Formats: sequence, C-alpha cells, structure tokens
Amino acid sequence: MSQLVRQGRARPLSLSARIGQSSMATRIEDEVRVTAADLVDSVAEVRLKVAAVRYKVEDEVRHTAGRLKTRVSKAAGEAKTKLGDEARFIRSWLDAPMRTGSVTPSGPALARRMASFVDPEVPGPVIEIGPGTGPVTEALVERGIDEARLILVEYSPEFCTLLRQRFPRATVVEGDAYALSTTLAGHLEGKAVAVVSSLPLFSRPPAMRSAFARDAFTLLADGAPLIQFTYSVISPVPRKGSGLKAFVSDWVLRNIPPARVWVYRRAN
Ligand SMILES: C[S@@+](CC[C@H](N)C(=O)[O-])C[C@H]1O[C@@H](n2cnc3c(N)ncnc32)[C@H](O)[C@@H]1O
Repeated sequence: MSQLVRQGRARPLSLSARIGQSSMATRIEDEVRVTAADLVDSVAEVRLKVAAVRYKVEDEVRHTAGRLKTRVSKAAGEAKTKLGDEARFIRSWLDAPMRTGSVTPSGPALARRMASFVDPEVPGPVIEIGPGTGPVTEALVERGIDEARLILVEYSPEFCTLLRQRFPRATVVEGDAYALSTTLAGHLEGKAVAVVSSLPLFSRPPAMRSAFARDAFTLLADGAPLIQFTYSVISPVPRKGSGLKAFVSDWVLRNIPPARVWVYRRAN
C-alpha cells in the first residue's frame, strides 16, 4: 500500500485502475522487449557492415599492393633495359664514334616524332636505317606498323643480335646503308613506303650523303618519304640540285641533345 494510503491521505486504487496499470506495465514491457530486440538487430547489422568495409579495405590494399609490385618490377625492368642500352651505346661509340654518331640512344619523344611521319595505313615495307638498340623501331610498332613490315638495316653485329631478339618478326639486315640497294638485294619485295634513317650523316662528306638519298629514293614508292633526324641546324641531305622538297619539324627539346626531323620527298 502506498505511503499516502497508509497515512490515510490517499484512497487505495480501485480494481479497474489497478488492472489498467498492470496492462500499461505489460505494454511498456513489450515495447522494451521489442526495442531491445531492434537494438540487437541494429548492432548485428552494424557489425556486418563493419566487416564488409574491412573486407573491402583489405581487398583494396591487397590489390593496390599487387599493382604497385607489378609497376615497380616493370619500372625496374625498363630501367635495367635502358641502362643496358645506354651501356651498349657507349661501348659502340667508343669502338666507332663516327659510325655510332651518338653516345646515347634517341629518347622516346624524338623516336615518336620520327614515326609520326610514317602513315601506318599505307601498305608496304618500311625500311629503317641505323636502328641501333631499337627506340625508333619501337615507336614505329607503337604507331601501328606491323613488325613484319619492318626491314632494319644495321651495321653493328651486336645491335643486329639485339634487334633480332627484340623484333623477331622484323627482317634484320646486317650491312652498309651507304650501299643500300646492294645491301637490301633479295630482302625487299616491292617499293618501300618510307625510309626512316638515324644515320649520323654529318660524319660523311656531302657527296656521300647525296648518294645515300638518291639510292634511298630508288627503293621508295612515288610520294613516299625519306625521314632523317639530325642535331644540326642545317639539312643533313644537301638540298641544292637534289630534286627533293623538304619539310623540317620543330626542335624536339625533350631529346638530349635536342634534334629536328627532316622529311624529304621527290619534288615531282
Ligand atoms: C645515332 S645512332 C641511332 C640509333 C637509333 N636509331 C637511335 O635513334 O637511338 C646511328 C646508328 O646507325 C648505325 N650505322 C652507322 N653507320 C651505318 C651504316 N653505314 N650502315 C648501317 N648502319 C649504320 C650505327 O651502328 C647506329 O646504330
């Protein structure tokens, strides 16, 4: 009995009031039970979500680590190849500086600029002269010229061995580009659609450079280009009386040293 009732200041509750109170208590108990069950469900849901997020994060970390590992080992491989090519070039330059013409292979920007003047859609063989370790060859292939269309003329036996490994479907001809038609006898089917040359032409006298260009044009289809890079400010093929028209690119400054690309075509 409540204190008020005991003190005689309050009346005891009637039966119906007590019944009302006990059913309210039951409702409250039910509600508490439902709320508790909801809470348990919510906690379980949150736990599931946390587990899913953790799994996703772990998965992402695993993937990123895998991708990084691949990238690092690819970069390491490329760096090793690049260093190897630099070393080969320096060795070749020490053996024959005038023939090698450079202490380092051309950079990708210059190689791409050279390749940009070859139209991959025009069918037929593409002759590359002085491919060395193959940076221009690589740019030609990247441009969409099937490796099997490439005829690589290289003087150095060591570079030829390397080129055969790197471009197994290309035709590698070890020989002298200053006697081009003789060197290519039996290797060329039909006219070529471009001659792409990295020869250090300035190591030869003007008459020999002119003879090289004349010979190259006997192997080229009508309208096809002779593409030549140079570090010099003047045309590596003497222009006067050559019957050639020429276009020269802007300086490829990202190459060391900067270089330009000359594109020659028959004037008529
Ligand atoms: C300046 S390096 C260019 C190499 C490569 N294309 C590059 O851009 O890095 C000149 C290349 O021409 C080759 N070469 C020089 N004289 C040659 C000749 N008479 N016949 C064929 N190749 C020659 C050298 O061996 C060397 O690989």
